[in-house]
Amino acid sequence: MSTRGRTTRRVGPLAGMPEASPRLDVDALLDDPETRIIVCTGSGGVGKTTTSAALALRAAERGRKVVVLTIDPARRLAQSMGIETLDNTPRPVPEVSGSGTLDAMMLDMKRTFDEVVESQASPEKAAQILANPFYQVLSSSFAGTQEYMAMEKLGQLHKDAARTDRWDLIVVDTPPSRSALDFLDAPERLSSFLDGRFIRILLAPARGPARFMTAGLSVVTNALTKVLGAQILQDMQTFVAALDTMFGGFRARAQQTFALLQQPGTAFVVVAAPEADALREAAFFVERLAGEQMPLAGLVVNRASRLLHEGLSGEQALAAAERLESTGDDSTAVTSGLLRLHADRTRIVAREHHLRQRFAAAHPHVPTAVMPALSTDVHDLDGLREVGELIAG
Ligand SMILES: Nc1ncnc2c1ncn2[C@@H]1O[C@H](COP(=O)(O)OP(=O)(O)OP(=O)(O)O)[C@@H](O)[C@H]1O
Ligand SMILES: [Mg+2]
Repeated sequence: MSTRGRTTRRVGPLAGMPEASPRLDVDALLDDPETRIIVCTGSGGVGKTTTSAALALRAAERGRKVVVLTIDPARRLAQSMGIETLDNTPRPVPEVSGSGTLDAMMLDMKRTFDEVVESQASPEKAAQILANPFYQVLSSSFAGTQEYMAMEKLGQLHKDAARTDRWDLIVVDTPPSRSALDFLDAPERLSSFLDGRFIRILLAPARGPARFMTAGLSVVTNALTKVLGAQILQDMQTFVAALDTMFGGFRARAQQTFALLQQPGTAFVVVAAPEADALREAAFFVERLAGEQMPLAGLVVNRASRLLHEGLSGEQALAAAERLESTGDDSTAVTSGLLRLHADRTRIVAREHHLRQRFAAAHPHVPTAVMPALSTDVHDLDGLREVGELIAG
């Protein structure tokens, strides 16, 4: 695990409260030619897409040839990166300065799934699968499909990068899952679905003539035919059989991508909000990565609360507010309100700091960057530059 960092000390109201974690040296990570893949993970809504886009832009502007795979970026952000069409094609982001390049794409989950089908099955078989109603619905809504397809796409981008020399760094955003662990669990989930009992029953007729079926299975499929109707059962069987045929390919590629994620050129960046639940979740993920031998670059604590003024303590602000209020002079109401706001904010900042210290006590070697909450959403390249700048400290 990299600990390219240094311990920092705070000034202002948090003076005397040292950061317990080494600092995540983002620029060293981005500039290191050995860094080939950066994966931004974290639970829903914490800022994964923003962080991936910001890191990718910063890396490009520092000279790397970068492709960023985003998942469901907000519309305005996608527009500013020149990726309005969902077609799985990396496109150059306009107005990137410096010597590097940045291509961006949005993951089209359905298209990625279709491409897998087309690459695995004969043209007639592929057409049959793509037209199957179960395939059409499940390929875009099956639990874990987005996670699985993000992995699939990462594998493809990695191959393209090796073949064409077009990119030397791939930055990957991960889907808006409830838990960051879903990304790593998706291939396993797909395997257990395909190995499940219900699937085996459905597959039995497709795997061979009915006379090879056990009596028990034929009773079940006969019952299913009665309940579902022959056509629906046939559609389900076609779909499941298709998945089954492709499954060897699926599993092999998922394993390859898993191995890619374990290589030293990969760096996971775990994004979390400065909240107890989010940091607990981040801690689980950090432990899981260690268990999977996947390299962790560090933690980004995003949307950290900001003090209104660095040089004023909460107690000072509160004492001043009380003094002003005791004068009974209405004209000071706004000032005392601001002072109270500052005092409140100081408490919040101290609590977030305490949560980070607790995380650091359990994981003292995880380099950490703190990204303050900005006053507006991040929806253009300047916003991304600012985020990159702030994360890099
Ligand atoms: N530091 C920040 N300050 C202000 N706004 C932020 C910050 N980080 C992210 N945001 C905003 O928060 C929203 C959610 O961010 P983002 O889309 O990056 O999260 P996500 O983790 O990708 O979400 P999901 O899990 O839904 O994919 C966006 O509108 C983004 O502009
Ligand atoms: Mg996102």
